[in-house]
Order: sequence, then structure tokens, then C-alpha cells
Amino acid sequence: MRILITGNLGYVGPAVSARLRQDWPDAALIGFDAGWFTSCLTVPQALAAARVMQRSGDVRDIDLSLLRGVDAVVHLAAVSNDPLGTQFAAMTDSINRAASLRLAALAAAAGVRHFVFASSCSVYGAGGVAARREDDAAQPLTAYASSKLCAEAGLRRLSADGMIVTCLRFATACGMSARPRLDLVLNDFVASALTGGRIDVLSDGSPWRPLIDVQDMARAIAWAVGRPMAQGGPFLVVNTGSDAGNHQVAGLANAVAAALPGTTVQINAAAPPDRRSYRADFSLFRALAPAHQPQIGLATSIAGMIHGLRGLGFNDTGFRDSPAAIRLHALSGLIRSGQLSAALRWTHHSAAMASRGRRCRLADASASARATIVKPAAIHGSPS
Ligand SMILES: NC(=O)c1ccc[n+]([C@@H]2O[C@H](COP(=O)([O-])OP(=O)(O)OC[C@H]3O[C@@H](n4cnc5c(N)ncnc54)[C@H](O)[C@@H]3O)[C@@H](O)[C@H]2O)c1
Repeated sequence: MRILITGNLGYVGPAVSARLRQDWPDAALIGFDAGWFTSCLTVPQALAAARVMQRSGDVRDIDLSLLRGVDAVVHLAAVSNDPLGTQFAAMTDSINRAASLRLAALAAAAGVRHFVFASSCSVYGAGGVAARREDDAAQPLTAYASSKLCAEAGLRRLSADGMIVTCLRFATACGMSARPRLDLVLNDFVASALTGGRIDVLSDGSPWRPLIDVQDMARAIAWAVGRPMAQGGPFLVVNTGSDAGNHQVAGLANAVAAALPGTTVQINAAAPPDRRSYRADFSLFRALAPAHQPQIGLATSIAGMIHGLRGLGFNDTGFRDSPAAIRLHALSGLIRSGQLSAALRWTHHSAAMASRGRRCRLADASASARATIVKPAAIHGSPS
């Protein structure tokens, strides 16, 4: 078994590598990543365990040679949230949609059997209170959500080529990872409560968000990598999470406060309505993947984040402005310092960093991965 994982050095990727290593102990796992976030918060020892052969590069440039002999592609690489999509709209389309479709076409040409695409429930956008099913009309409100929906549509057209394509429409991720990110609603609340004893909910708390722990995302990906054609056909779009994971934002804040007694919760009652509100119906996933259902409840995700951040000695009350924790600040900082171009490509200024990335075999992943916290100028994204 040979599995290519793009975007393996982000937040979700380390959990995916670990899970695939557990399920396929003898597999060759090949990671392919541009390394945008290698200087972000990291638990180095957790990165090394999955024994991934690391390649450094941009998915927009990937060529057929990397795909020869590969049995499955897990495609995670993306411009990965709404604030980034707003700031880098054109690159969000070219990476999340165009490069994904090019990669899938190359994979089909190379005889890859399974292609797993990390899509998102954010395609439902203003979803109202009724839980959205896969065949309900999507209403993407952001460049990020549109890019995922358009990629799905392109993959549907491609799926005649004999490759089994699975688009996992993930709920919003949460929980501890070897490379945690704090620009996600639950993680933001835990970090706020832990460092400052208070949670500022930027919205009025009413929007619905389905959540899924990164460990459960990895479990679902492992299912998709081995999915037989009979379980869902050659092309499948499936909401990935659990009905119990549909929460309102205020409920999430209160659950974190309950886990960290003494935390105050400040709801912004005057906030304009946040149209991004959706619940998802996960019955199709339940029916197709009964042995790979989410196992990690909200309280366990919160406890894991608290434990993980404490283990890192994390105490930055200004983390919402920090490139170590917030993807938008990380990329903006790399652009400001001339290391990344506006097209989100490494520049000649970043030669040292690029060569470090090329050398980044697992053996030295721990050396390149640092838990640094730097404070840049504030650029506001909205995690909640
Ligand atoms: N985090 C969530 O809430 C969530 C929810 C649903 C779906 N997803 C999807 O899951 C996937 C992984 O999310 P994440 O939270 O780990 O994101 P992340 O931003 O933490 O990591 C993305 C990784 O992809 C790499 N990457 C980005 N563009 C690249 C390119 N052009 N070439 C090579 N590498 C590139 C980055 O260097 C990074 O390591 C993404 O596709 C995301 O859209 C995430």
C-alpha cells in the first residue's frame, strides 16, 4: 500500500498520518506539503511517529512521477478557512479547486484507486436550522466554501475514470493536533479561557456549527482510503461528523467554561447576524461507515485541547494576533517578510527555508518544527 497525503504538515495532517500508519503498519506514506506552517505551534515528537517520507512542493506543480505506484491519495492541501479565502480569494480558487482537479486527473491517469478530498460542510453556508443533507442545495457564502463546492463538482465529472472518489464534507475541526491551530471556534475558546480566563464570542452565539475532532476526521479518512465501490459508488459526497456534533456557538463557549471553572463568557449581543450557520445531517455517513463513526465527544475534545496547550506551556493572551496560532497571520507575515509571494509561492528570499523543507525527512521534523510564538500586527479574522 502506497498513500500520498498532500497538506500533511498542517493541523489535520498529522492525525491522518498517525491513523493511516496505525491501520496500514507496512504502508509507504508519502507526505507532500509546501510547509507554510512549519513555524507554527507544534508538538514535535507527535509529528515524527508516523514515519512519513516527506516531499516539499506545491500541489499546483505536482507531476505524474509522484503519483506512479500510488494506491490512494488523501488530498488535504488547501487554503483552509474563510478569513484566508477572503484575503487570498484567487489563490483559494487556484489551489483548492483548480489544483485539486489537476491532481485528481493526474491520479486517475496514474491508476490511483482511491482519491479522498477534504471538503467542508461550510458549503451549506446560510443553512438555517434544518439539518442539511448532501443533496440539499448548497449555499456557499465565502470564497473558501465556493472553492470546495466547485472542486466537488469537477471531481464528479472526473469520476468516470475508474478511480473511487470520496468527498468528505467535514464538520468544523476541533481538538488537539501535533500542529494545533487556534483559528477554529472551539480551539479559540479553549485558548482564550486558558490564557485569559474569559471567552469573547464574536457573534451573538446563535449560529450552528457541526464539529468533529481531528482524530475522528482521521478515522473517516481511513475509511475513505479503503472504501469499497459498493459502499457509496464510484463518486461519493458525504457529510462527515455526527448529529451530536451539531452545536450552537454559545453552547460551545459554555462547555469550555464548564471545563475551566472561573471562565467568564462574553457574548456579543450587538453583533450583526452571522449568516454562516448550518446544521448537517450525518445519516448517510452513519449508514455507510458504521465502524468509523466519530468517537470523541465535545468534553473530550476540550479536555484534549486543555491538556495539549498546557503541555506546550501555552500562555499567549494575544494569540488571536499571533502567526504561531492563526493561519491568516502566519501567511500574511510570510508575505510581509518577502518569503511568500502574493501567489502564495516561496520566493528566492525563502531559499533557506525551502532547502530546510526539502531536507525535512521525519528524522529532522522535530528540529524544524518549533513551538514559537511571535506577535505581528493584528489582522482580524473571525473564528466564531
Ligand atoms: N480545519 C477544519 O475545520 C476543516 C474542516 C473541513 C475541511 N477541512 C479541510 O481539511 C484540509 C486540511 O485542513 P487543515 O486544518 O489541516 O489546514 P491547514 O491550513 O492547517 O494545513 C494545510 C496544509 O496544506 C499545505 N498547503 C496549502 N497549500 C498548498 C499548496 N499549494 N501546495 C502544497 N501544500 C499546500 C500547507 O502548507 C499546510 O501544511 C483542508 O483541505 C481543509 O479545507 C478542514
